[in-house]
Amino acid sequence: MAKRSTLFCSYRHQVLRNWQSTEAVLTKENFVYPILVHDKPDVEEPLEALPALTRYGCNRLEAHVGPLVDKGLTSVLIFGVLQNLSKDVRGSNADSENAPAMQAIRKLRSAFPNILIIADVCICSYTSTGHCGICCDNGDIDIDASVKRLAEISVNFAKAGCDVIAPSSMMDGRVAAIKSALKENGFGNKIPVLSYSAKFRSFFYGPFLEATKSCLPKQDKKMYHLPPASSGIAHRALKRDIDEGADMLMVKPSFAYTDILRDAKTMFPDIPLAVYQVSGEYAMLLKGAEEGLYNLDDGVLEVMTGLRRAGADIIITYFAPYVLDWLSVKK
Ligand code: PBG
Ligand code: ZN
Repeated sequence: MAKRSTLFCSYRHQVLRNWQSTEAVLTKENFVYPILVHDKPDVEEPLEALPALTRYGCNRLEAHVGPLVDKGLTSVLIFGVLQNLSKDVRGSNADSENAPAMQAIRKLRSAFPNILIIADVCICSYTSTGHCGICCDNGDIDIDASVKRLAEISVNFAKAGCDVIAPSSMMDGRVAAIKSALKENGFGNKIPVLSYSAKFRSFFYGPFLEATKSCLPKQDKKMYHLPPASSGIAHRALKRDIDEGADMLMVKPSFAYTDILRDAKTMFPDIPLAVYQVSGEYAMLLKGAEEGLYNLDDGVLEVMTGLRRAGADIIITYFAPYVLDWLSVKK
C-alpha cells in the first residue's frame, strides 16, 4: 500500500486549504456590528481611544451605516445610550416614543430595508440602578416584573421594525416570556430570539459600560452573570434557553470562553451560535496593534478564525467595519 503523503502536501493550494476549513471560513455575513445610539439626535461622540465605540445620534446613523452596507455589512445590533432622557427603576426610556433604540430601529429600517436589525433587549442602560432587571426596595431583583418588562420592550422593538430580539439580561424565564409576547402580538413566526445564554461575569465589559453611561460601572452583576469558573451553569443556561424556545444561542465574552463555544455547538449542532467579542477584547486587540506587537488585520483575523473554528456561526464585534475592508482584499 502506498505510504500517505506528508500533511502539508495536502493543503498547499488555497482551494485545498478552504476545503479543509469550511467551518472556519470568514465571510462578511458572519459579522454583526454593534452600534451605540445616543439620545441626542445630532451627536457623534467618540469614546476616547476606542473609535468603534462612538455613540451616534439617530440623525447620524444613515451616514455612518450607509458606506458599511455598500461594503457588504449585513447585520447590526442596536443599543441605546441615555444622556438627555431620564433613567428610572423600570427603564422606561428603553422603549419610550423618543427612546434612542426605538428611533434607531425605525431610521435604519426605512433607510436600509434589507439589513438584519437585531435589537438588544435589556434595561441596564436605562435603569437608575444600572441593573439588568427591576430592583425591589431591598435591592434584590424582582424576576417576574423584570421578565414582563423585557417582553414588553421586545414587542415594542418588533413594532418599530427590528428583525431579531436579543435578550441580554440573563433573567430566568425571559426567553419564554418574550417568545409568547411576540406570538400574542403577531410576531410569532416573524421574529426569532437570539439569546445571550452563556453570558459570564466579566471585567472585559468595562469600555461598554463607560460608553453606555451605565449607573453601575463596577462589575456588580454577579447574581445573574454566570460565574467564569463554572461550565456546568453555562451548559444549564444554554439548555434552559433552548427549552424556553430560543432560536439562536450566544456565548459572551469570547477569548476566555472558546471551550463553552465548542460545548454549545456540540450540544446544539443545529442551532446558529453567536459569540460576542466584547468591548474590552476589542480594546485589547486594538491596543496591541497600536503598540506594534502585530498587524491589526493579521491579529484580529486570526482570532476571528479561531472563534469560527470553535463553533461560532455569528461573530458580534466592534471590528465589523474593519473586517469588511480586510475581507475585500484577498491575502
Ligand atoms: C447589557 C450588556 C452589556 C454588554 C452588552 N449588553 C454589559 C453588561 O451586561 O454588563 C457588554 C458588551 C461589551 O462589553 O461589548 N446587558
Ligand atoms: Zn443589562
